[in-house]
Amino acid sequence: MTEATTESIQHDLEKIPGPLPHPILGWRGNLFRFLSDPLAYMQMLRRTYGEIAVFVRRPENKMVFTFHPKYNQQILSNPDLFNSVGITHLGPEGSAHRKVGHGLLSMNGPQHKQQRRLIMLPFQRNHIVTYRDAIVEIVEDVTGRWRSGSRLDMFKEMKELTRRISSKILLGLDASSKAFSVSAIMEKWLELNISIKTRLLPIDYLGLPYHRMLQLAEKLERETIAMIEQKRSEEIAGSDVLSILIRAHDEDGTTMTDDELIGQANILFAASHETTSSSLVWILFLLAEHPAVYANLVDELSGRLKGSAPTFDELNQLSLLDRVIKEGMRILPAAVYTYRLSTVPFELGPYHLPERTTVALSHYITHHMPEIYPEPERFNPDRWLTCSPTPYEYLAFGAGPRACIGGGFATMAMKLSLAMIVQRFRLSVVPHARINRHLVVTMGPQHGMPMTVHEQDRRFGKNPVRGNIHEMVDLR
Ligand code: HEM
Repeated sequence: MTEATTESIQHDLEKIPGPLPHPILGWRGNLFRFLSDPLAYMQMLRRTYGEIAVFVRRPENKMVFTFHPKYNQQILSNPDLFNSVGITHLGPEGSAHRKVGHGLLSMNGPQHKQQRRLIMLPFQRNHIVTYRDAIVEIVEDVTGRWRSGSRLDMFKEMKELTRRISSKILLGLDASSKAFSVSAIMEKWLELNISIKTRLLPIDYLGLPYHRMLQLAEKLERETIAMIEQKRSEEIAGSDVLSILIRAHDEDGTTMTDDELIGQANILFAASHETTSSSLVWILFLLAEHPAVYANLVDELSGRLKGSAPTFDELNQLSLLDRVIKEGMRILPAAVYTYRLSTVPFELGPYHLPERTTVALSHYITHHMPEIYPEPERFNPDRWLTCSPTPYEYLAFGAGPRACIGGGFATMAMKLSLAMIVQRFRLSVVPHARINRHLVVTMGPQHGMPMTVHEQDRRFGKNPVRGNIHEMVDLR
């Protein structure tokens, strides 16, 4: 990558095609349109302007979108040239908010490398194996309440499921424990971080969501410190991720500071919970709307497992389940786009761009490129029998040195949950339900996912649905 002069840089930013600022609201008008439906906006950018489009051209605020696996690779494989900025508000200096929001996602350089090395420990195979029984117990507990014939919002159910899994595995908390409420605070705090209202009105004034978010962060900091102290005082070492991180140390003996533990615990919870629940609910929806795949999956699972939950070794022998998850996360990925901030001037295709340019790329748009995935809107798990994209063409868990550290754990949790749910229940979408996407950090169904629960009677059939899901998945 060659460096460019300031003069050519300014010149090239002007050369990149892109939408004009809104006549009244200026660049904020574009930002508002983007935030209202990021996916539709990115599709419009690609259709209208091609592989590279500039979105905001202000000298202090430059944002460029890219739509090609070669740019995915350039951006994601060079973390020192393209820094991550995280998903939460920065918050006032010295605030509790800044502390609880500062985890792996917003770290860069040597600090990111050092912390990532430590955080990867509890997500290695030898630890993941030990999480299996707890996950099975939680799935049994949550689905044990489902009654045949009842209508449920399956998105709510999946959120409950993953909140309990994340609370247990990451923090060591059971639903019955007094400290369990800390996960509810984390959830609320994250919601406020990513809400459009907080983004457009970051003002610390009584009654405003931004103020509530800062207050929650203070509570969260207190609760997390109490949790860390409690774990340190326990005689028997805990096997949850936070306990492992408290004990983790580098080769030279360096352990994580309390501030690092607070930030990492919160960010791990934030990164794990909604991503997994959104992926699960989309997969259940896709199965319900593709009866032949649902039937084949029940055959595979019941044939091998005879109604029980898979053991850790059996998880790797369920090849259709594996393909269903891969394909579900291709067609409806929880992470739709991401962005980085350039640290030096750089070349992007034919253009020279300055440092501190925000460069975005889209997992969703890459996953729907017909040259990589023929008939991209078709849910076809069997495409994975022959399809082998590069890491920068399949980005469900990201790619490069900052790829998801929880991918193996999330896949295990999803496989266990789906294997148990699918063998036991036939789920159908309530006829004519409106299924629209809702996307802030992760993409989930906007109005929930109304589904009817039946015992697994193998009477598979699909129901008509409404909404912009039809733009994303071919449901004919
Ligand atoms: C189905 C569930 C999940 C999906 C779809 C998912 C997706 C992703 C993606 C796409 C990235 C890269 C983001 C980027 O490049 O900007 C990422 C990063 C990350 N994920 Fe996940 N994730 C999932 C589950 C989890 C879980 C369970 C954990 C932890 C318990 C986790 C922790 C992280 C962390 C810490 C990062 C940042 C890594 C770094 O910056 O070095 N994720 N995830």
